[in-house]
Amino acid sequence: MNIWIINGPNINLLGTREPDIYGHETMESINRQIQTYLTDHGHLYEFFQSNSEGALVDKIQEALNEQVDGIVINPAAYTHYSYAIHDALKSVSIPTVEVHLSAIHSREAFRKDSVIAPACIGQVSGFGSASYLLGVQALELHLAKENT
Ligand code: DQA
Repeated sequence: MNIWIINGPNINLLGTREPDIYGHETMESINRQIQTYLTDHGHLYEFFQSNSEGALVDKIQEALNEQVDGIVINPAAYTHYSYAIHDALKSVSIPTVEVHLSAIHSREAFRKDSVIAPACIGQVSGFGSASYLLGVQALELHLAKENT
């Protein structure tokens, strides 16, 4: 399968960004762990991070022409208000899992709502960097079921 991992704004600052909430691991280190898992399981992959909404929308649209089977996305703050990312995911109609390092439902009120979730097959939130691997595994299970 071809699986894309997409990260939104400020995820590139993991490691130094509010480590009490997001931990000490960098995005690069998390990506390496995901890459190892994806390689071991015979998947193709691509990693992408941007701080800008338009670039994230462009990347999601690009997935249509690249035979992408599934997406794992941490839309970061865009989770809570980006109808453009929601619409892009709906437009490409590629199974997508939304992931968050922190437990968004137990934080500030504005983080409880995700406008991205309705465009996704599911959400993983609150397991730190493991949220990404759990998201990938959930996607694998979903795609395997879809292909039977
Ligand atoms: C986040 C949660 C968002 O509310 C926040 O804006 C982020 C990171 C997470 O991974 O926990 O940037 O998506």
